[in-house]
Amino acid sequence: MAIGQRDPHTGHMTTGHEWNGITELNSPVPRVIFFFLGAAFLYSLVYWVLMPAWPIGVTYTKGLLGANQNLALAKSMKEAAAARETWARHIETASYDEILADNSAMQTVRQTGRALFGDNCAACHGQDAKGGKGYPNLAQAPWLWGGTPDEIARTIQFGINADHPDTRVSQMPAFGRDQMLSRPDILDAAAYVETLSGTAPAGEAERARAAKGKEIFAANCAACHGEDGKGKHDMGAPDLTDRFWINGGGPQAILDTLNNGHQGHMPAWDGRLTPLDRKILTLYILDLRAERK
Ligand code: HEC
Ligand code: HEC
Repeated sequence: MAIGQRDPHTGHMTTGHEWNGITELNSPVPRVIFFFLGAAFLYSLVYWVLMPAWPIGVTYTKGLLGANQNLALAKSMKEAAAARETWARHIETASYDEILADNSAMQTVRQTGRALFGDNCAACHGQDAKGGKGYPNLAQAPWLWGGTPDEIARTIQFGINADHPDTRVSQMPAFGRDQMLSRPDILDAAAYVETLSGTAPAGEAERARAAKGKEIFAANCAACHGEDGKGKHDMGAPDLTDRFWINGGGPQAILDTLNNGHQGHMPAWDGRLTPLDRKILTLYILDLRAERK
């Protein structure tokens, strides 16, 4: 088909292209496209006039509406800071009991506390605070140093066996290595410690060992772990009658503790975390316990 022919069905001209007898119409662009093009053009004109648009050297056309996202951001940051300050002052000044009873304050404590704990404490105590070998379970185990808010706050502030003058000092002596007890006495004491947490002696010989171990315990261990083995908070000596162990509770682990002793190191956070952050962490740990009871 030649150029310029008119299609008899639509009345439009054809382009002259043809494929297997099918010719291409040269139909005009639909009007609606021009309409939207025009609308977009008008919109951009209006936008340029009203809103910040064109860079001119070091400044830019500001627009009649004076919109400025920098200022809006600064304003909302200022509002957030003010809200945080109010909240922080509340946590700093209110007593532990007041905050623990205040559900909305505790919501923020949980959020902030989880982040603080994850950043500073989880490496040793685990993300869930349940500890691991060498590190105590803060979420469940009976307290080494007592569970009042002040005791917990003190541990966090000054640490345990840490390089702070006010650090807590925790000493499980190395009875074997330092030859404070003979080998048989250590085996007897270990047998008795196993019975404390509910493991029944395996036979007659074990029972006799544990009985002798009880006397050794009274003479050598009770000063720190208590007559009943339930531990003493002022020594940081753990309760030996429960199912929680710092260094492992099997016969081998217990023998190892008696032979080589143990001195856990908990860093001091005085000067590394603000008093507010430390208070939040104390509340966070108390809250973990309350949840799990
Ligand atoms: C380098 C490892 C390490 C880090 C980091 C660490 N801890 Fe500890 N923490 C320990 C050890 C070890 C003990 C137990 C020491 C002992 O045997 O007496 C402990 C004990 C504690 C206790 C005393 C528990 C009790 O039963 O009385 C609290 C509370 C505590 N940590 C809180 C924290 C908090 C909060 C953080 C983060 C700010 C933290 N710890 C970071 C190692 C660590
Ligand atoms: C001077 C105080 C002191 C004396 C005495 C002492 N202990 Fe300990 N014992 C501790 C402290 C503190 C710990 C915690 C050490 C740590 O984990 O940092 C501990 C930990 C232990 C543990 C490990 C507990 C665990 O959870 O892993 C065992 C077992 C134990 N002692 C048994 C004994 C026995 C048995 C004797 C006596 C032969 C004894 N202790 C004497 C202070 C003492």
